[in-house]
Amino acid sequence: MCVACHGIDGKGDPLMLKTLNPPPADLTSEKVQNQTDGALFWKITTGRGAMAGYENILSEKERWALVQYIRSFNKNNTPVKYRKPVVTVPKASTKHIQIFPFDKAVNLNTTTLIPAKQWSFIIQHRFGAIKADEGIWRNFLGLDLASNIRVAAVFKIGKNLQAEIGRTRYGKFYDLGLKYKIVEQNELVPLDWVVYENVAISTEKAPVIPEGTTFENGEPFTYTFAHRLSYDTQLLLARKFNRFISAQTGFELIWRNLAPPGEANFTPAIPFIIRLKTGFMSAVSIEYSFVFRKRTRPWALAYEIASSGKHVFQITLSNSDRILPQNLYTHNSFRPGKEGLSLGFNLIRFF
Ligand code: HEC
Repeated sequence: MCVACHGIDGKGDPLMLKTLNPPPADLTSEKVQNQTDGALFWKITTGRGAMAGYENILSEKERWALVQYIRSFNKNNTPVKYRKPVVTVPKASTKHIQIFPFDKAVNLNTTTLIPAKQWSFIIQHRFGAIKADEGIWRNFLGLDLASNIRVAAVFKIGKNLQAEIGRTRYGKFYDLGLKYKIVEQNELVPLDWVVYENVAISTEKAPVIPEGTTFENGEPFTYTFAHRLSYDTQLLLARKFNRFISAQTGFELIWRNLAPPGEANFTPAIPFIIRLKTGFMSAVSIEYSFVFRKRTRPWALAYEIASSGKHVFQITLSNSDRILPQNLYTHNSFRPGKEGLSLGFNLIRFF
């Protein structure tokens, strides 16, 4: 089969040398002989110019045998050294893949750290719950009702570390958070891994305790400073699937030093975030947390209507008006039709 073009001596059939462009390769030449076995095998397999591929015509074994046969043309020629096979393994890029553009989805933390040498300011506002009745308009979409708000500032304090300090209206919480990126998604690593720890202090007036109240173990109850503290520990895993879809999950533990009677100090949860880019300047973020506690499955939806590198504005809808996970996961979510849903917004500004 090969003779028709490459000639009996491998130097090329005279007629074919004249008619084909490019002409059949001189199989005895240094140019061919210097190639690796693998390269010759590949070219016979896939074809080259006027030469068809032989993948479906010759077996793998026959094609390797042909490589050996082509080597036999080298015998009487000047010895050519085999070119050292240049194995070019494409270097996996460890380029930074930003999974979420901001460090919060709606209420929940993402695995994103704010950009280096910047700090950000966030306002998270949740209006009172509205039901799908005439109250929507009477309460002006909930804006007339009592509402919750958290303001926070986020600072980059290391390459993979950032700190956050926030104040939340409900519970009069001050919270201090630390987010650390363990590894970042790139072509070798499929996921971002992040740990986050938040300590919140409620500065609300100490509750009035009825006379004779005891701890569960029977000791008389006294309210201490430590009771004001609650902790939120998160391990977050996130992945950007393509230009449009990013997702995150993880494991989260809330510990409250003081839990109301009948409630546990521990609240484990599995948070989920999906972000869909819907346009150049718009995106939808969906959050849901599976909280191991009845009646608390907080979800939130945000539509980002504008974002540049510096400003972000999100309109939110959620089944809770709580913001901090310490609060969000321990307080009953609104039930559809009963309490209704809460509108709100997030405003982020980078400096
Ligand atoms: C239709 C004519 C034709 C037939 C039949 C043919 N070849 Fe080729 N072959 C060519 C041409 C033309 C080229 C050069 C293509 C180019 O330079 O891009 C070539 C290139 C090659 C090369 C690559 C050389 C290089 O420079 O990298 C090898 C190896 C080769 N042929 C082997 C074979 C073998 C083995 C057979 C038989 C199974 C065969 N060819 C059959 C026309 C043919």
